[in-house]
Amino acid sequence: MAWSPDKTEVKSWNEWDTLRHVIVGRADDCHIPPEEPALEAKVPEDSDMRGQWGRRPQETIDRANELLDNFADQLRKRGVRVDRPTSIDHSQPATTPDFHTDSQFGCMPPRDVLLTVGHEILEATMSYRCRWFEYLNYRPLMQQYWDEDPNFRHEAAPKPRLTDADYHPDYLSDKIGVEKRLQWTAEKFFVTTEEEPLFDAADVLRFGRDLVVQHGFTTNLKGIEWLRRHFPDHRVHTVNFPGDPYPIHIDATFTPLRPGLILNNPQRRLPEEQRGMFERNGWEILDAAQPAHNTPPPLCYSSTWLSMNVLVLDPKTVCVEKSEVYQAEQMDKLGMEVVEVDLRDAYAFGGGLHCCTADVYRDGDCEDYFP
Ligand code: NVA
Repeated sequence: MAWSPDKTEVKSWNEWDTLRHVIVGRADDCHIPPEEPALEAKVPEDSDMRGQWGRRPQETIDRANELLDNFADQLRKRGVRVDRPTSIDHSQPATTPDFHTDSQFGCMPPRDVLLTVGHEILEATMSYRCRWFEYLNYRPLMQQYWDEDPNFRHEAAPKPRLTDADYHPDYLSDKIGVEKRLQWTAEKFFVTTEEEPLFDAADVLRFGRDLVVQHGFTTNLKGIEWLRRHFPDHRVHTVNFPGDPYPIHIDATFTPLRPGLILNNPQRRLPEEQRGMFERNGWEILDAAQPAHNTPPPLCYSSTWLSMNVLVLDPKTVCVEKSEVYQAEQMDKLGMEVVEVDLRDAYAFGGGLHCCTADVYRDGDCEDYFP
C-alpha cells in the first residue's frame, strides 16, 4: 500500500529508496563531554577539542538549530514528514553502577543511535559513556510510533557496562600520532576491546537483505556478531577502512547512492579482499570528490569528509551540503539532482546531512542486491 502522510508507518530497508518520513536532530543543550576513553581516542592530537568540556556556546547552539530547522522545512516542502526529538538535560551527569561521567552529549546526531531495519527501529548499545542515555531523547517519538503503527518493532540492544575493561589503555595518550594510529587501524587494533557487544548505529549501512558494518572504535566484533544474531534473515558483512586513523561511523567513508553505485572515501578505500560481493554483482565503487574545506569547523569531532555525508532522497535526488561544491559537481555528473542544504555551522554537533537524520519510512521492500 502507498505511503500516506496521515498514517504512521515505520519501514526502511536501505539508504536510497524514496524517503517519506525522517527524524532530524536538534542542537538543544549539546555538550562537549568530559574526557573518557573512547572519546579521547577519536579526537585528533591537534584538535581544538582537546582539554575542553562543558555546554557548547549558546550562539553556536542557536545557529545549529536554525540550520537544522531550515533543513527540516526544506524536507517538508518536498513532501517528507519530519519529526524532531525532545531534548533531555544533557548537563546531568550519567552514573550507573559501573561508571560515572560528568555530562552527556546531546540529541544530535540521531543516525548514531537509531538503526531502522524494515519495520524495526533498534537503539544501539553506543560505546561512549556520555552517550549511554542518549536514546531517551527519542523515546517520545518511539512511543508515538508504537501507539500509531501496530507493526512497529521498537527494540533496544543490551546496554553495555562500559567499564574500563571495554577500552585498550594503549589508546589513552594524546601523543600517539597519526602513523601509529594508521598502523593500529591496519592491524584492526582499536580503542574498544571485545569485553562485550558494542555498536553505534552509524557504523551500519543497509542494502536490503545485506547489512554492511564497519569494525572500528565504536563497533567491535561482538557488536557485529550481536547484529548478526539479532537479524537472522540478513547477511551481515564486516568491513574495515585501513586509511582512517580515527575509524568511527561509516557514513563519511562509504556512501551508497543507488543500487549499483557507492562512493568511497579515497583516503579510506575498502580493501580488495572485501570488495567481492560488490564486484560479483556489478556494483561500482567510485572515489568520492575531494572536500571543499581543508579543516573542519571549530569544535568539531568529524573530519572534512562530512562532504560525502549526504542524504539520498531517492535514487535520483540527493541532499549535499551547500559549501561542498566538488561533491555537488560529482553528484551532478552522476546524473543526480542536487538539493543544496546549508549545514556546515551545525557539523560540530555531530555530523552532516546523513548523520543528523534517521529514517522512519522509505518506499520499497527488502530486496536482495547481492544474490
Ligand atoms: N569517521 C567520520 C565520522 C563522520 C560521520 C569522520 O570522518 O570524522
